[in-house]
Amino acid sequence: MATFKAPRGTADALPPDQPYWEFVRRQGEAICRRYGYRRIDTPVFEEAGVFIRTIGQDTDIVEKEMYLFKDRGGKEMSLKPEGTASVCRAYLEHGMSSLPQPVRLYYLSPVFRYERPQAGRLRQHHQLGAEALGELDPALDAEIIDLAWRFYLSLGLQGLSIQVNSLGCLKCRPAYRQALVAYFASRLGEMCPDCRSRFDRNPLRLLDCKNAACIAVGDEAPRSTDHLCLECGQHFASVVRYLNLWELTYNLDHRLVRGLDYYTRTVFEIQPPEGGSQSTIGGGGRYDDLMEELGGRPTPGVGFATGLERIVSNLQRQGIALPAALGPRVYVCYLEEARDEAFRLLAELRHGGVEAVAAVGGRSLKSQLRQADAQGMSRAIILGGDELKSGCPMVRDMSNGQQQSIPTGQLTAFLKGLSG
Ligand code: HAM
Repeated sequence: MATFKAPRGTADALPPDQPYWEFVRRQGEAICRRYGYRRIDTPVFEEAGVFIRTIGQDTDIVEKEMYLFKDRGGKEMSLKPEGTASVCRAYLEHGMSSLPQPVRLYYLSPVFRYERPQAGRLRQHHQLGAEALGELDPALDAEIIDLAWRFYLSLGLQGLSIQVNSLGCLKCRPAYRQALVAYFASRLGEMCPDCRSRFDRNPLRLLDCKNAACIAVGDEAPRSTDHLCLECGQHFASVVRYLNLWELTYNLDHRLVRGLDYYTRTVFEIQPPEGGSQSTIGGGGRYDDLMEELGGRPTPGVGFATGLERIVSNLQRQGIALPAALGPRVYVCYLEEARDEAFRLLAELRHGGVEAVAAVGGRSLKSQLRQADAQGMSRAIILGGDELKSGCPMVRDMSNGQQQSIPTGQLTAFLKGLSG
């Protein structure tokens, strides 16, 4: 019979990788809370319109990557291809505009995109995202960039760089778009088929193409920052001033447009040292028109999201050591005559807050100790006839074989006092 595999473009996060995931989630949540963001969870699927209206018809995500399905009531639904639109839908649905603004929210969520899988590009990945809703103030754009940056620093990642740009607003973008159309029209022959087909619908996207020839053409293209209206120009100058104030190093990248259409004004991305098109570790920006697309009153917002798989692979590639485990992992070994005491002790340790398992399967003491070693346990508790009589189990340090006899009543406290 055929065996099953995880669907293409998805990955199991197995126990050896879990310490990385826990570390990333823990640091991420801690930093979001320190910046005043509160957790929100939204469903993994929404009415498809939530995403189609906001992300944009001409984006890769809406054109070919959404996991669309009709539910049994015939409603068109989509698995979440990103988190921002869902959070904005929740903001509107729960009347969060009546709360003190801005409303700062963060989330940890799986995200689904039917992409061509390759290294760093999955069909299900996981994001940590943060959104500041209801305020236009450029201090928030800088806050989000700073939050992202400090998060990566807190993980110990090295060599990252920040790219920023401003895309202007509905008022100034049409003129910029026209300037781009005029420029690309004269260079279209040098560009890839994808760019040629996108030229009419979404000329901004041509700046984003990863094809070498298109990059060369894009480098000389008109810059959005030269076409900003007065308000957008002042807004961007102010974002940059905050970044300087907080001593963040960044590059102005006029080719940065992002892959979702809802952005207005500030956009940014953070890249690890090994570049490449699938390497961007996090990105975001401002989206002041998104809430209106969802049927709400005009409500500004700015945020970012980062891919947890890409963070974990960067941590592993950079050989970053994780903080030591919180306490020892204990393996209770016993001779048959001490079995009941061993299992009584096992419960006592667990209830007292020690990570402990007991040998099962009727193996010899020697084989139990081999198991403890093979499972990477830091301590073994040994209970034989002598230990049973004296009421003092033996504690064996698995790293060096040293043994110590500890009275049962003191065992939990003794083990909790060890570092790992
Ligand atoms: P995004 O740039 O599409 O933005 O995704 C954010 C991050 O998710 C990327 O930088 C990358 O680390 C990760 N990512 C995206 N696609 C994949 C994939 N196929 N496989 C693995 N990782 C991936 C957004 O989703 C916006 N919602 C960000 C945002 C929040 N803008 C404003 N607020």
